[in-house]
Amino acid sequence: KVEVTTGSMTQAGTFNHVCVTLIGTRGVSERTKLDKIGPDLETAMKRVYNAKTQLPLGKLLLVKVGKNLYHCLPDDELFYSKIVVTTPEGESILFPSYRWLIGHRKHQLIFKKGLHWIEDEFYGYQFLNGVNPNAITKCSELPKNFPVTEEMVKPFLEGSSLQSEMTKGNIFIYDQKKMEGLPVRDYEGKPLHVTPGLCLLYVNSKQNLVPIAIQQLHQEPAEENPIFLPSDSETDWLLAKIFIKNADALNHQAVTHLMRTHFLAEVYIVAALRCLPEIHPIYKLLFPHFRYTLHINTGGRKSLFGPDGALHTSSLGYDGIIELMRRSLAQITYSSFFLPENITARGLDSIPNNYYRDDGLKLWNIISFVKTMVEYYYPTDDDVRKDTELQEWISEIFTHFPTCFRTVEEVIRFITMFIFTVSGQHSYDYCSMMPNYSLLLRKPPPTSKGQSTKETILETLPNVGEAVGFATMAIVLTGNYADKVFLGNYPHERFDEPVPKKIIEEFQAKLANLTKEIEQRNSAAEPPYIYLDPSQMENSIAI
Ligand SMILES: [Fe+2]
Repeated sequence: KVEVTTGSMTQAGTFNHVCVTLIGTRGVSERTKLDKIGPDLETAMKRVYNAKTQLPLGKLLLVKVGKNLYHCLPDDELFYSKIVVTTPEGESILFPSYRWLIGHRKHQLIFKKGLHWIEDEFYGYQFLNGVNPNAITKCSELPKNFPVTEEMVKPFLEGSSLQSEMTKGNIFIYDQKKMEGLPVRDYEGKPLHVTPGLCLLYVNSKQNLVPIAIQQLHQEPAEENPIFLPSDSETDWLLAKIFIKNADALNHQAVTHLMRTHFLAEVYIVAALRCLPEIHPIYKLLFPHFRYTLHINTGGRKSLFGPDGALHTSSLGYDGIIELMRRSLAQITYSSFFLPENITARGLDSIPNNYYRDDGLKLWNIISFVKTMVEYYYPTDDDVRKDTELQEWISEIFTHFPTCFRTVEEVIRFITMFIFTVSGQHSYDYCSMMPNYSLLLRKPPPTSKGQSTKETILETLPNVGEAVGFATMAIVLTGNYADKVFLGNYPHERFDEPVPKKIIEEFQAKLANLTKEIEQRNSAAEPPYIYLDPSQMENSIAI
């Protein structure tokens, strides 16, 4: 039984066809149309439908909701409040939504159930497929300042040893050294704490990545800087994980998100607008990928990032965020923006269950369609060297990046990187759940074991008002908006020659295939990984 409740605001209902599919650990139900005699899905309505399934579904994990146009009626948005599914065994499971379902066919809401943020397996999963999948690296030798002993981690290595697991390539590390000594904000008259922690992770025999040791306080081993282990008290271990995630959240927002996508894209865009005329083929190719970026950056500098913005209320505050970006910019490498090179450099070529890598590399290869496009306009390296407008563009961009294009290949590389950065790399989630992704922690980290309680955790996490502020920011930044333009859609016709038009059609067909492939994989993946599905991501950094 599927009980659907729509919102009570005006226009919350829909005339469109709506279908639900239930996904459990053992199977998937038939796609069930929400259609009964009498009115369906009107505003403020609660109705019960029956979903059919051939076989038992096992433990229910997801409800997928899709919307199709009804005859010639226009697209009509729907506001869901919640769905309650009652299993044949009589168990009722709530899937809250309170969101608009916009668009049709490809768009669907997925209600997640059973993501246990507190569990080590989900904690590790997020370093591969969560909000910041660019942080961990393979560890073949422990850093000297992180003296984890065999004895400490033996109980978590399933009979193996740390040394042998490092040799096998099953040990990974997140070193947050970059956070050391950053300026922090004052809170109730005292400075807050951002910790440069070290977290060791292990790929276990179930192929799950799990944390096995955390040194959280600072980078030097000391008595007041204990190495926390999964066998410590539940609250000690949880706090250690929360401090690592706090530094990760700050690093994600300031560096991975703002600096590496928004602000660098702005540099490429402003340079393009200054140097490339509107009829230039590279301008025509890239212009749809510039949409709204300058607008959101201009607004975001004030409302999000500026001295009075939401990020100022993080543990780092404005000065700390600026310093973190400054340090990260100094360490930036051009190669790290190339997904295949980034994955290999971090030793993640074969780590299991890394959907970010698997889908990302496929997407990267599809975006390489720009190769045929660039080669069409620049048959030889000489054509590249002689294009003064193109050369002016790249020379304006950035000192860490190439200052000129010498070959066709270099142009292809740069443009592929640009399109991937503003589409795939800017697609993420899992950051509105405060304990899982907190930009602010109010208390210092523990300096000894066995002192923490549940109260310590509540006093450490942001208070209700602060949490609502951060969650709102996360929801706004990852929200669904009615005028999104999805990757590969070019509503304004800019190319009129048949060859470029054909290249774009092929690009779109390949993206559609990738969507199908990902949907198929996701029907068996828990939780489903949707972030690099081309039908879910925009052409440009628009929010
Ligand atoms: Fe963004």
